[in-house]
Amino acid sequence: MQEGSAQSVPVCSYTEWDPLEEVVVGIIDDASFPPWHIALPPVLPTDQLDTFRARAGRPFPRELVAAAAAELDEFARILAGEGVRVRRPEPIPQRVTYATHTWSSTGMYAAMPRDTLLVIGSEIIECPMAWRSRYYECLAYRPLLKEYFRAGARWSAGPKPELLDAQYDRNWAEATAADTSPRLVITEFEPTFDGADFLRCGRDIIAQRSNVTNAFGIEWLRRHLGDEFRIHVLEFDDPHPMHIDATLMPLAPGKLLINPTRVRETPRLFKDWDIAVAPEPVVPEAHPFYLSSRWLNMNLLMLDENRVVVERRDEPMIRTVTDFGLTPILCDFRHFNSFGGSFHCATLDVRRRGRLDSYF
Ligand code: ALA
Repeated sequence: MQEGSAQSVPVCSYTEWDPLEEVVVGIIDDASFPPWHIALPPVLPTDQLDTFRARAGRPFPRELVAAAAAELDEFARILAGEGVRVRRPEPIPQRVTYATHTWSSTGMYAAMPRDTLLVIGSEIIECPMAWRSRYYECLAYRPLLKEYFRAGARWSAGPKPELLDAQYDRNWAEATAADTSPRLVITEFEPTFDGADFLRCGRDIIAQRSNVTNAFGIEWLRRHLGDEFRIHVLEFDDPHPMHIDATLMPLAPGKLLINPTRVRETPRLFKDWDIAVAPEPVVPEAHPFYLSSRWLNMNLLMLDENRVVVERRDEPMIRTVTDFGLTPILCDFRHFNSFGGSFHCATLDVRRRGRLDSYF
């Protein structure tokens, strides 16, 4: 039996491009503005800060949530039509207050499994997330995690973070106002990371430090994974780093998509790869992006080395991937994009047919 085939293990994914067999697609149920917190301003678009302060703990606009939910369902149908088994998390309450002994919070959503969980090979890892509003997000995935474990997957979790005030740089705002060099809001108090700060290319995993992923978290993952994998920590020209997958996207062996505003020089590791430059995003200015930049146009999901899911109205990106030798599969997703992610963020590839290999 081939290593990593559907018959042998429920969880197995080494790359961003091996043939996709099973995927989790997020849900937008109960999506809510998180309580105001020092970790938010470093990553929110500046035109959203007042909105987040004013609507802390309240639901996102109902019509937008409904439109995003319809897009997610359509995305799930398209994936199923392409032969992929689609799984969804269970809704959990997002506006119920929970507390530790030092802080309390409400939740946000379970829309972005890419942030909450990380699949490396046959292991599925619950990420120790840095936002208090995302502390319990992994519970939405627990029914799936238990099922995968019972079927033979390795299920683990990063050290449960305390998320004390010491995890956040309380001078971030003043220091950033006084100095133009970017500064991260999280400290090295304890390990934290989001799965979306990592990209898998077989034995080589590309990572960045960000406003949710610290060096401590990356080091924890490095030791946890052991010698089979090499984690490469790259730096980009991104003043608000949170999640690497709108900066760099490996699409297939030897094919890399880059964000031209953040990747000034191709990282040395990719020197032998073909590079496609993401075109400027085309979503109308008036369209809200609550939680991210507009570069979600490059947050793509590969179904194999050839098929790629692209936003239906994003003609420049459709041309870019076609010129790169790929086959675009179109799906409406602009309303979902308002919540901070696109096709890559909204998914977790649980199983791709393939084996551990080197691509560099
Ligand atoms: N946080 C990333 C961006 O805003 C996805 O581009």
